[in-house]
Amino acid sequence: MGKIFDWIDRRFGVKEPHKKFLQRPAFGMPEKVNYSYCLGGMSFIYFLMLVCTGLLLSMYYVPSEKEAFKSVAAITNDVTLGWLIRGLHKWSANLFIIFIMLHTIRVFVSQAYRPPRELNWMAGVLGLVIAMASGFTGYLLPWDQKAYWATEVGTSMFGTVPFIGDYLMRFVRGGLDIDGATLIRFYSMHVLFLPASMAIILWAHFHMVKRQGIAKSL
Ligand code: HEM
Repeated sequence: MGKIFDWIDRRFGVKEPHKKFLQRPAFGMPEKVNYSYCLGGMSFIYFLMLVCTGLLLSMYYVPSEKEAFKSVAAITNDVTLGWLIRGLHKWSANLFIIFIMLHTIRVFVSQAYRPPRELNWMAGVLGLVIAMASGFTGYLLPWDQKAYWATEVGTSMFGTVPFIGDYLMRFVRGGLDIDGATLIRFYSMHVLFLPASMAIILWAHFHMVKRQGIAKSL
């Protein structure tokens, strides 16, 4: 492995410019850590799972009014191991949210939100909002009755915002009703806007963890 890496490195050049980063001493780890300090890392594993299984699903899913439902049925029943990839995507999505919540509780209980980590707490909150928006937009994609009516209820909540409610609801739906335009809009959010924003937020989150180290345990 080392030889292969060295061969690539002589051409690609990663080791030398990143020496300082790769050989940095272990940053401030508190003395008392336990398994609850793995919850953030576990959340990240689910994020990676979602990206990998999502990429595979996107090869067969068709985001159109006519084809969406049929394509999900085909993924589940006809595509080789499609049922497994779809199942893994669904389970990872649920576990992602649960583990983010548990991670937030760990950070809260150990009071790691205090200065200088307040900006990292805010980055985390943004990550949580993006994760929930991903769940909401993904729920419509099977394009069945449950998806349709859940989105009807969810999007009409935007309509209750004072003054701009109507405009906001139309913006989220891509029109007055939930139709093909909504499906495309949700699909684009689900596979492009939200994952890209999440990647940026997580980069910032990990950057701050690296710079500040893990907060001293109480
Ligand atoms: C969106 C998914 C998230 C991922 C993948 C993630 C990942 C991580 C990882 C790997 C760490 C370092 C190890 C650890 O403490 O577990 C960490 C630390 C931290 N996270 Fe998150 N996190 C996420 C969401 C959140 C949320 C929702 C909050 C708070 C609202 C948050 C606040 C923090 C803070 C303040 C730290 C520093 C903890 C310390 O220094 O002890 N994170 N995160």
